[in-house]
Amino acid sequence: METKLTTLLHIKYPIIQAPMFLVSNTAMVIEAMKSGIAGCIPALNYRTLEELKSAIHELKAAKVAGGAFGFNLIVNKSNIKYKEQLRVLCEEGCDFIITSLGSPEETINQAHNVGIKVFCDVTDLHFAQKVEALKADAAIAVNNEAGGHRGNISPEKLIKELKTHLSIPVISAGGVGCKADIEKMLGYGADGVSVGSPFIASVEAGVTQEYKQACVDYGADDIVMTERISGTPCTVINTPYVQKIGTKSTWIESVLNKNKSLKKWVKMIRFSIGMKATEKAAKKATYKTVWVAGPSIAHTNSILPVKAIIEKLVN
Ligand SMILES: Cc1cc2nc3c(=O)[nH]c(=O)nc-3n(C[C@H](O)[C@H](O)[C@H](O)COP(=O)(O)O)c2cc1C
Repeated sequence: METKLTTLLHIKYPIIQAPMFLVSNTAMVIEAMKSGIAGCIPALNYRTLEELKSAIHELKAAKVAGGAFGFNLIVNKSNIKYKEQLRVLCEEGCDFIITSLGSPEETINQAHNVGIKVFCDVTDLHFAQKVEALKADAAIAVNNEAGGHRGNISPEKLIKELKTHLSIPVISAGGVGCKADIEKMLGYGADGVSVGSPFIASVEAGVTQEYKQACVDYGADDIVMTERISGTPCTVINTPYVQKIGTKSTWIESVLNKNKSLKKWVKMIRFSIGMKATEKAAKKATYKTVWVAGPSIAHTNSILPVKAIIEKLVN
């Protein structure tokens, strides 16, 4: 399976284990590398820069030929730690950075100075052309089947459009749960895939057994979009709790959102409350089951080690 992505990262298979807030950890990425794919962790999964540094050291020590590791940086103002995280990544080193939300310009410039590759999340051609002009090493095409903050365009349309107009590699994110899905995305022209949701129900994932089991028990039809986490629509499992609280912003938020000067504050408060609730649901037993996942959990039938999940994807 040689593609532009395998050449770029020196990996065996054209797959990135996608960064997932609260879920991804070093144990998952180490297993990913051993199985010949790349793994990525959101820098925000670490509360302190010291914790981020020790994760980098652990991954460097565990790196094997055929694998690669990287970190995801939220590059807009909502991430107050962004500049320091970027500095640590550049000082300590990693194979690649995935940027999301906001302009990747500063990340690209600094990371390239120290030989780190930068892949940028994009959801349409307009933004993809911008990141190509900024010299991104690849575009991650987040489609409308992705878990988390998904895009609006189907995998086929998005990949074909980006491949027609870009010369950098295009990595498709969203909707890959089995080998046939990978073949489909490569068939549309993608140079690789980024896979998140199927790894939630992994033995190594840093979330509760209930969350993992929900990815086994629920299917693609049980995924809904909610505004109740970050203010921006995000995919979650439609548990009885999600049904009870609803998926739309509360009326008071909607009213306050109409006020230009209050809007920013409402968003920040919603973001902070939403993140705390999601963290609680992912890490502790609670009846407030707000579990982020995408429709590709349709192929998840049991909780398996990362190694076995990758074997299912490639064999
Ligand atoms: C639980 C969860 C958390 C996520 N957290 C992040 C994140 O912190 N940063 C990011 O760029 N993308 C995040 N994503 C999106 C993934 O990186 C990836 O684009 C997506 O999982 C691909 O779709 P899939 O779930 O169908 O494989 C998250 C996705 C999920 C399911």
